[in-house]
Amino acid sequence: MKGRPAMTKHRSIGVIGAGHVGSHVAAALVTGGVCRDLILIDTDGPKAEAQAADLRDLAALCPRRVDVRAGGYGDLRDAGLVFISASGPIFQEDRLEELDTSLDTMDEIIPQLSGCGFGGILAAITNPVDLVALYLHKKLGWPRRRILGSGTLLDSARLRGAVARRLDTAPASVAGYVLGEHGDSQLAAWSTVTVGGIPLDRCAPPDFPRQDITRRVRTAGWDIVLGKGSTEFGIGTAAARLARAILEDQGEILPVSALLEGEYGRRGLCAGVPCRLGTGGVEEILPLDLPAEEAARFGASCDALEAVIQRKGDRFQ
Ligand code: 2OP
Repeated sequence: MKGRPAMTKHRSIGVIGAGHVGSHVAAALVTGGVCRDLILIDTDGPKAEAQAADLRDLAALCPRRVDVRAGGYGDLRDAGLVFISASGPIFQEDRLEELDTSLDTMDEIIPQLSGCGFGGILAAITNPVDLVALYLHKKLGWPRRRILGSGTLLDSARLRGAVARRLDTAPASVAGYVLGEHGDSQLAAWSTVTVGGIPLDRCAPPDFPRQDITRRVRTAGWDIVLGKGSTEFGIGTAAARLARAILEDQGEILPVSALLEGEYGRRGLCAGVPCRLGTGGVEEILPLDLPAEEAARFGASCDALEAVIQRKGDRFQ
């Protein structure tokens, strides 16, 4: 069969960091057929090649065509979206433990990314993701819509899943957000939780275990890391969902880590809030009208992030 003209442009996604998380992000992108070209970049070239070869086998069994290859930063020029999943050792108890090594890793990536002609959307997955996303904003200086973090998308899925299991319904029938830090200070915003459109208060028994679910959602990542060394499937699928929202440009609203510039009364930090996503990236930050107690806890989560930024002083300048 004749090949197609070389100039044909496809939807292309790059993944920087082809370890546990990056490879599962890539696998979810392939099985979901979210992009047409997938480029894996890793400092360990042979590993990136091997991951790409394994993913090509996966792609050959999937209904939608995705061409996977290992590559370099020059291959990101036409990418609509790039994920950064590169990291050092995974946290032992608190994602903030990863901050120094993650920022060192970003220092290696940033000059290559800014010099390669990439003009798409950059999504950080590397933990602590809110601080990594902020660091990328500070160092790259791109329009704020172009950089985001995976934020509380996975935490919100964990919350929806836990509520659904308790009420014996489908997670897709449950809406609701975890907000703030993708980490210990996060807030399960119970006021936003609805089941089939009905506020939880009206459809759950009075003894519904909100506190227990809140605690389990907060520690879910840690519990998985303790058991198997890293989390992979959830974050991989969350990233694919994010990618679809961005590339398919349907105005989907998801909770991601966005740079706040006055929204929710905060400025100069990234935190998980509901955002309208599209090919422009973070096209709008939605202003939730939180009850006072939840607004205060969102503020406390932002304070916790800000305290780290202050402690790191010059690093975030
Ligand atoms: C997660 O929550 C570890 O941040 C990762 O799955």
